[in-house]
Amino acid sequence: MSTADRDAGHGTALRAGTGSRDAERARWAPERFAFGCDYNPEQWDPAVWQEDVVLMREAGIDLVAVNVFGWSDVEPEPGRYDFSRLDAVVELLHAHGIGINLGTGTASPPPWLSALHPETLPVMADGTTRWPGGRQAYCPSSPVFRERAAALVEQVARRYGAHPGVRLWHVSNELGCHNSLCYCDTTAAAFRAWLRARYGTVEALNRAWGTSFWSQRYSSFDEVLPPRLTVSSANPSQALDFHRFSSDELLGLYRAEAEVIRRHSDIPVTTNFMVTAHQRDMDYFAWAPDMDVVANDHYLDHRLEDPLVELAFAGDTTRGIAGGRPWLLMEHSTSAVNWQPVNVAKTPGEMLRVSLAHVARGADGVCFFQWRASVQGSEKFHSALLPHAGTSSRTWHEVLELGRTLEALRDVVGSTVRSDVALVFSYEAWWAADGGNRPSEHVRYLEQVHALYRALRDAGLAVDVVPPGAAPEVLARYRMLVVPELYLVRDAEAAAIEQYVADGGHALVTFFSGIVDEDDRVRLGGYPGAFRDLLGVVADEFHPLLPGQTLTLDSGSQGSLWTEQLRTVTAKAVAHAVDGPLPGTPVITRNEHGRGTAWYVATALDPVHAADLVREVAHHAGASPMPGAGPLVEVVRRAHDDGASFLFVINHSDDVVEVPVRGRELTQDVDVETLHVPAGAVRVVREDVTP
Ligand code: GLA
Repeated sequence: MSTADRDAGHGTALRAGTGSRDAERARWAPERFAFGCDYNPEQWDPAVWQEDVVLMREAGIDLVAVNVFGWSDVEPEPGRYDFSRLDAVVELLHAHGIGINLGTGTASPPPWLSALHPETLPVMADGTTRWPGGRQAYCPSSPVFRERAAALVEQVARRYGAHPGVRLWHVSNELGCHNSLCYCDTTAAAFRAWLRARYGTVEALNRAWGTSFWSQRYSSFDEVLPPRLTVSSANPSQALDFHRFSSDELLGLYRAEAEVIRRHSDIPVTTNFMVTAHQRDMDYFAWAPDMDVVANDHYLDHRLEDPLVELAFAGDTTRGIAGGRPWLLMEHSTSAVNWQPVNVAKTPGEMLRVSLAHVARGADGVCFFQWRASVQGSEKFHSALLPHAGTSSRTWHEVLELGRTLEALRDVVGSTVRSDVALVFSYEAWWAADGGNRPSEHVRYLEQVHALYRALRDAGLAVDVVPPGAAPEVLARYRMLVVPELYLVRDAEAAAIEQYVADGGHALVTFFSGIVDEDDRVRLGGYPGAFRDLLGVVADEFHPLLPGQTLTLDSGSQGSLWTEQLRTVTAKAVAHAVDGPLPGTPVITRNEHGRGTAWYVATALDPVHAADLVREVAHHAGASPMPGAGPLVEVVRRAHDDGASFLFVINHSDDVVEVPVRGRELTQDVDVETLHVPAGAVRVVREDVTP
């Protein structure tokens, strides 16, 4: 297989499904914001269902996901299907005018499957089995699982494929959430087939994996295993390919189900992604073309330094994955979750702010997990639209308010976000960069991405997120491109970034970028490898800093984590180290390249100076900050092609915020000359004049 073929994707042959990508497919395009939730009526007595639909109507809920975890209910014994309960629920929702987001039910196999076929259970890298009793206890490569899942989907799709109440198909649930990497013998066979398709010959695999190191040379594909636990450090290229394989394998599960559904139904099909800080195993850029709408699940993660930065990044990334088109927030929470060490509850008004932060970043629907808080099971302390306390709760009143707000914003639906700045984000670079045995384990890919994103957000800049393979005509739309820690970059991707600058663009690249090719092979001639010419610098050696060690720059900035023995070639030094291991060495540089400029930062800058630098680069690039935007005030514009534009202002601060914008404020239904947004509030202005 040629490099060009391999560059076209992960270079794999998927075993199931064809991956329908035709443009004719149904697209999900609602006329009003979808407002919805997961609904698990099987946990409740049917008498409760009647109250549920009445309350759903009261709140304006119009998209309800059912049968997500329905397998053991609709197929209580192998091959015996009982749809009586699901029929009743589907008819009840439909009779009340509530649209159905129909789960295929395959998310979690019933206990009978693993009892009959223990070989379907997932196995960890250390060879231990993960048992039933939770959820998703299956090996994604298992032919038995795939066969039983396809049989179930066939039944569900045939039964409901033309039902007028069904608005969307919900394949499985968060594919790979708990079982993304399985190391069993079945997986090993599937991995070998994938490698054969990718490399053709075992010699090509040996070259790609560098197996002359440590006597790892394979004489046949049959000797290859998944990267199971080893006594020493393992082969990083093998681990990288295993990530590629595993992502493709899970996409194969989606494709197999979608193919069955499409034989019986014209209704749009999707599955819920997890574009979040805690899931890196699925390359959603590669998955998106198979979705009729990109859907994401997102929960604030209070283990992170700044959960709101991560939320904004996830929203912008989801939009990037969707190719800029509107997307669907399939799940978030009204308040606390149940799976963090401390499950922080939302404060008054926070649910509205967080919901509209997703909407501002392109969501055309806001859905939640789940409708009614469970009384049993491990999620009984997870928040819901209808909490244990019932309709007298603050949460319920905020749910009603959110429904009214989404209705008031109806004209926003279908509009898109346009940004001056793009950030390059790569799942492959994440897999490779965090793979172990690198200069510093304290340098973590996503943290570096978040740090640069935070600097952009603090500087008030709207950001699009693009994959490293973005086409030159896509990159050409942006005034500024930021490239955080793009450790692994393919030749064509590096060339596209270089061309972007040569054609007049402005790029900001941060340390540990351009280091290896797609096989995790170091690029020779000095760091930062693929970006040496673009940046006009060369480094002989990395000098990572110890935890707590800082670096003072002559610009007044402070760095941490990293520095390197950097020399300028054609670049000019913007700032030097005054202390640390290499005093006097350039740390921030700027290079004129063709008609554009490329900046390089060889340390982790403190947040204040990172935002200052981003402002400076943006100023040179002509990228404008959003009016009034800052660390605690999100300002995002959505616009229609006809020019109608909507300015979202989300005030997370304790102060009133003033924004110079004229137009009709939609949540309060008033005209504004200058917008005043109270502490903790959200306002959305339909702007009078398109800026
Ligand atoms: C995920 C799942 C849901 C639920 C929530 C809880 O998003 O899809 O079924 O478990 O997490 O936060």
